[in-house]
Amino acid sequence: MYDVDAVRRDFPILGRQVNDRALVYLDNGASAQKPQSVIDAVTRAYGEEYSNVHRGLHTLSSIATENYEAVRGKIAAFLGATENQIVMNSGTTEGINTVAYSWAMPRMEAGDEIVLSIMEHHANIVPWYFLRERQGVELKWVETAADGSLDPQAVIDAIGPKTKLVAVTHLSNVTGTVVDVKAITAAAHERGVPVLVDGSQAAVHMPVDVTDIDCDFYAITGHKLYGPSASGAIFIKSERMAEMRPFMGGGDMIREVHRDSVTWNDPPMKFEAGTPGIVQQIGLGAALDYITALGMENVAAHEASLRDYANERLHGLNWLTVQGNAPGKAAIFSFTLDGAAHAHDISTILDKRGVAVRAGHHCAQPLMQHLGVTATARASFGLYNTKAEVDVLIDALELCHELLA
Ligand code: ALA
Repeated sequence: MYDVDAVRRDFPILGRQVNDRALVYLDNGASAQKPQSVIDAVTRAYGEEYSNVHRGLHTLSSIATENYEAVRGKIAAFLGATENQIVMNSGTTEGINTVAYSWAMPRMEAGDEIVLSIMEHHANIVPWYFLRERQGVELKWVETAADGSLDPQAVIDAIGPKTKLVAVTHLSNVTGTVVDVKAITAAAHERGVPVLVDGSQAAVHMPVDVTDIDCDFYAITGHKLYGPSASGAIFIKSERMAEMRPFMGGGDMIREVHRDSVTWNDPPMKFEAGTPGIVQQIGLGAALDYITALGMENVAAHEASLRDYANERLHGLNWLTVQGNAPGKAAIFSFTLDGAAHAHDISTILDKRGVAVRAGHHCAQPLMQHLGVTATARASFGLYNTKAEVDVLIDALELCHELLA
């Protein structure tokens, strides 16, 4: 049995009030709250076990290195990969930029194509835009259907002889749509095209096995996974990693540096330049321990029941439009109020009731343009949310309707 009350007690911030109301935190898509075990791990790492990693022979450096490197194994286990396929970094943005600079730039030329879905968030658009701007690479956009779903066949059909990469989200941060990345990967590989999957949201809401998906790259971000900000990783298939040149130079990623030559450390260290986010990663390790102990299947089942309940209640409001209702979607709802109400006004009123949602373009402007909206309000649920909080959201939305309609 998933005991959501016990889960909530693990997150100290959930006990606070906002504007004299109990906090209802529904902005998990932007960043999730942290359990006490993560806060404790960060405090211990700084208060008792801090030093630089991979550099010192003294006791503290050995402890810090051991704690930091243990996280690589935890990420690998969480994603179904092996440790040497995990590059640790500050999150999805750094992960996708690493692929853009280290793998894509040296092997793409004018006229080559990257296939993207219209649902990508900016971290999976702008690095490719650099290739467009600087090297003449073309971006091919695949649109979503009216219910927000992405037909894998439409992505596959967009792959042509000039396609060098498919870069697609596993789960939309705006509509909650889940994408069949396994089918896309299988078809792309038949055509000799590697696949990058943006797992920033999916890894938070559903079990992920990169070996089963068989993708070439899978990026995750720690702060959405109940870990510290500026933590994360990217899984890179060993064959792809062998093809990559390092793009960020500095300590740690080298073996020897001479006046006239440099030799590289072995991958994955070859792609981790400078002193890393030591404590952030240790905090991410604690977050993965926490989620693993709850069981990702149990988290997914809990969130599916929240999704069904929120879906029913939100769709019962005939003055509110929810963007996308694809089968099997995650508990992420972006909506607008019919009439002139701006998403920012909705968010401000909800905040007065203690309800935190994001309002704006959600770092996914091409999708907003495709949907024909400039902004939406978004309620994104996490493993500690409850049906009672859905009710608070609905009451607060009714107030919005009263004040803004
Ligand atoms: N991409 C993040 C979001 O969905 C920041 O809000």
